[in-house]
Amino acid sequence: MDKFVVRGGNPLLGTIRVSGAKNAALPCMAASLLTTAPVVLENIPQVRDIETERRLLASMGAEVELGYGRAQHRTTLCCARLESPEAPYDLVKTMRASTLVLGPLVARCGVARVSLPGGCAIGARPIDLHIKGLERLGATITQEHGYIEARAQRLRGAHVVFDRITVTGTEDLLMAATLAEGETLMENCACEPEVADLATLLNKMGARIEGAGTPTIRVHGVTSLSGTRHRIIPDRIEAGTFVVAAALTGGDLIVSGCDPHHLTALLDKLRECGVEIRPNGDSVRVIGNGPLQPADVNTEEYPGFPTDMQAQYMTLATQAEGSSVITENIFENRFMHALEMVRMGANIKIEGRRAIVRGKTPLSGAAVLASDLRASASLVLAALVADGETIIDRVYHIDRGYERIEEKLRSVGAEIKRIGEMFPKRITVPAGRG
Ligand code: EPZ
Repeated sequence: MDKFVVRGGNPLLGTIRVSGAKNAALPCMAASLLTTAPVVLENIPQVRDIETERRLLASMGAEVELGYGRAQHRTTLCCARLESPEAPYDLVKTMRASTLVLGPLVARCGVARVSLPGGCAIGARPIDLHIKGLERLGATITQEHGYIEARAQRLRGAHVVFDRITVTGTEDLLMAATLAEGETLMENCACEPEVADLATLLNKMGARIEGAGTPTIRVHGVTSLSGTRHRIIPDRIEAGTFVVAAALTGGDLIVSGCDPHHLTALLDKLRECGVEIRPNGDSVRVIGNGPLQPADVNTEEYPGFPTDMQAQYMTLATQAEGSSVITENIFENRFMHALEMVRMGANIKIEGRRAIVRGKTPLSGAAVLASDLRASASLVLAALVADGETIIDRVYHIDRGYERIEEKLRSVGAEIKRIGEMFPKRITVPAGRG
């Protein structure tokens, strides 16, 4: 079990570069199932979830080639021969986004067998809306022994209105509808940039999609899709994490290779807290000078304040001069990090989906435990401002979605090191052998 050892107190200074978006790369990799031709994806982050997705697709018979050296962020996927349209429990349980193969498989193969993901640290996270949507497109869905089986000769276009906004639900159905007969109209869709990026890829593959990135998406089904090359968008949550780290440590940091537009809700909130923010093209300069002001936050679907930045914002709120109320509206159990911060001296009271954070409270180094991806990021941020040494256990959570975070932070002045071996420095997969 890798750990991070962090010594707090250093302002972050310089330039830090953002990787490609994990939550865009995963659906885009799943989309390669929709064609027999090769799909080349660039700006793929080197994180654990991408490795899991590679293993998932390879287990079905796909050839997945991860790039080397200068091409290390490029992946070539070819699903010409799919032996078994199945996503096994041992992979799905490690990464819920594995369920994103359901729509593409039933659309391409007429059958898909996908394990139900089971419980998650941040909430129940059912996939009933994925299933309902596919049934609207004419799939017959059965559930047995913890697996969903979807069958359809050919999906048929339909009018789908999501009961509630779901990111991967929108993506799953979007992929399925591309090969359906006729037109699909999807309403109350997720507007996340990752959904729009997936649609951009699909349209490059020959799909006919309009309105992605808005609540209403129209898909004109086609009979087949082709291969293409596509560059994944930057990771707005990784960028947001570094922006908060700079504000928190009183640093002067340029976060480069990001899209500031995707961060609007967060940047506006930090301005409210008194942080100086200077967007410029594909970078944001963050100057954390002077005391932080408290500000309340409500997590919402995009373009609202992202739930994936809630934990990191909570760390910042512990250093604000006054009380902030954080309301988590997306997931029912996403305050696990609060108790670990209290161990470091924070003053946080949880009342259902609300956290009342009283600042400013000096934090002191302690041994803490990461429970999920974004919670672990918030603990790294807390450790950057804590007095003394913090030891963060179970950082495998952070490796799921942050590429070499300790190296990136060290390059701008943080005192952080990893104890233990991160997943192999280089995934040595001989070229073309998925
Ligand atoms: C995506 O998860 C992201 N994951 C999550 O990021 C992110 O937190 C979430 O969207 C919200 O922004 C990926 O893109 C791979 P949802 P997803 O379906 O699609 C309920 C990270 O840290 N719901 O939009 O699984 C659900 O329980 C991860 O990178 C149903 O009830 O989230 C939740 O309360 C964590 N039935 C809400 O909707 C369904 O069928 C929103 O979930 C689907 C969802």
